[in-house]
Amino acid sequence: MSHKDVKEILCLGAGYVGGPTMAVIAEKCHDINVTVVDLNEDRIKAWNSDSLPVYEPGLDEMVKGRRGKNLHFKVASSELLASADMIFVSVNTPTKMYGQGAGRAADLRFWELAARDILKHAKSGTIIVEKSTVPVKTAEAISRILHSGTEGKQFSVLSNPEFLAEGTAIKDLLNPDRVLIGNEPGEEGKAAGEALANVYRRWVPTDRVLLTNVWSSELSKLVANAFLAQRVSSINSVSAICEATGADVSEISRAIGMDSRIGPKFLQAGVGFGGSCFKKDILNLSYICETFGLSEVAAYWRSVVDMNDYQMERFVKRIVEAQFNTVAGKKQALLGFAFKPDTNDTRETPALTVTRKLLEEKAKVVIHDPEALENAKWDLKDEQGDISYEPDVYKACEGAHSVIILTHWQEYRELDYERIFSAMEKPAFLFDGRLWLNPEKMHKIGFNYLGIGSSELMHI
Ligand SMILES: NC(=O)c1ccc[n+]([C@@H]2O[C@H](COP(=O)([O-])OP(=O)(O)OC[C@H]3O[C@@H](n4cnc5c(N)ncnc54)[C@H](O)[C@@H]3O)[C@@H](O)[C@H]2O)c1
Repeated sequence: MSHKDVKEILCLGAGYVGGPTMAVIAEKCHDINVTVVDLNEDRIKAWNSDSLPVYEPGLDEMVKGRRGKNLHFKVASSELLASADMIFVSVNTPTKMYGQGAGRAADLRFWELAARDILKHAKSGTIIVEKSTVPVKTAEAISRILHSGTEGKQFSVLSNPEFLAEGTAIKDLLNPDRVLIGNEPGEEGKAAGEALANVYRRWVPTDRVLLTNVWSSELSKLVANAFLAQRVSSINSVSAICEATGADVSEISRAIGMDSRIGPKFLQAGVGFGGSCFKKDILNLSYICETFGLSEVAAYWRSVVDMNDYQMERFVKRIVEAQFNTVAGKKQALLGFAFKPDTNDTRETPALTVTRKLLEEKAKVVIHDPEALENAKWDLKDEQGDISYEPDVYKACEGAHSVIILTHWQEYRELDYERIFSAMEKPAFLFDGRLWLNPEKMHKIGFNYLGIGSSELMHI
């Protein structure tokens, strides 16, 4: 096959990355037939239904516009592997929970299984695109597996990490800051890199499509997430100083963010970062450092995760202390369970840690979220304690001793807080874990307002 004409794209993994990424390729390249497969039949059924398994603004319209035309969701099969020109591997790569590197290294068993399937069924010459976030040198290891067959099949392996952020996935995919493609050395590798670059160049300006070597590309993804998370942990560490001294972290964020060398993004203090990637990728980076004997570097990055854990702990401690050192039997209304707004993803959400800690304190926990209630129920199914789920936000807050903002959904800014306040137990507390509400306004309504990284506005 000439690498120039990619006509059939297959994606293994119909998750938060595979689904939206392939929808955008299908939208932008009507002449390419895009098929997304998964081992999970229920997930495929959901992608083919009216209610998609992933919530992202703009995704519904895009999928419904291309589905059945050049975008298909199917259960994985050998025929589909055999007919693809290019195979994206977008399977999950969670933190390994067993054996060597448990709790830190990436678990690549899904990736390896996918590679073995590819070797068995795909045709020689197929371009394999590593979309999952993986440790450095994974492409090399995968390449060895792919070339271990007896039939002499040849594959080119590219690294093409995904930088989309959940909640803005479609926007990010349509207008990425950059697309990174790492290719293996040699003519074949280069041609494969160009073939993928040509797909992206249909809608991404050429100067934003970067071609690098495979290892730089793989490492760039881990480093990008480590830097982003580090900024969050840095400002969160400052929020602790602010609470101790009476300074206000929002004012500090504004002041330092106006320094053009620092910039304003990712400087919002809060209850901590969540999501499936930051923690896993930093632990993975730290583990890689250790395996290369770089223990100081490993400890440096590890501390970003430690600070995040500390922040969640601190937040709950403040909630309990403010309510006269006990929340036992007191209704606590948690607003938001998704790890960020505009997604139903609850993986590693700080809300999960906060809920567990409040249940340990024997609180009565009620959870509201506009999109993530089903996932919350699933995540908490094995927890003991008084826990309920309420789709009506006003009912969730009725009779509560405290309202706790954990996700900065836009709708939480627009609630009738006077109505909420009047239906609560008194004294009523409002813990703003996302610095999402106007402190003075809330205090004026009657709440005892405690925001992360700012002094307390109390009536008692
Ligand atoms: N979620 C994000 O925001 C994000 C952003 C950038 C990169 N990533 C990376 O992308 C990868 C995928 O993440 P995700 O959030 O989409 O995960 P996900 O768990 O939502 O989806 C992965 C899917 O792959 C399927 N799968 C596993 N093995 C398979 C196989 N052999 N064939 C077909 N399907 C298979 C699983 O059933 C699952 O549905 C991870 O490596 C992640 O680190 C995620």
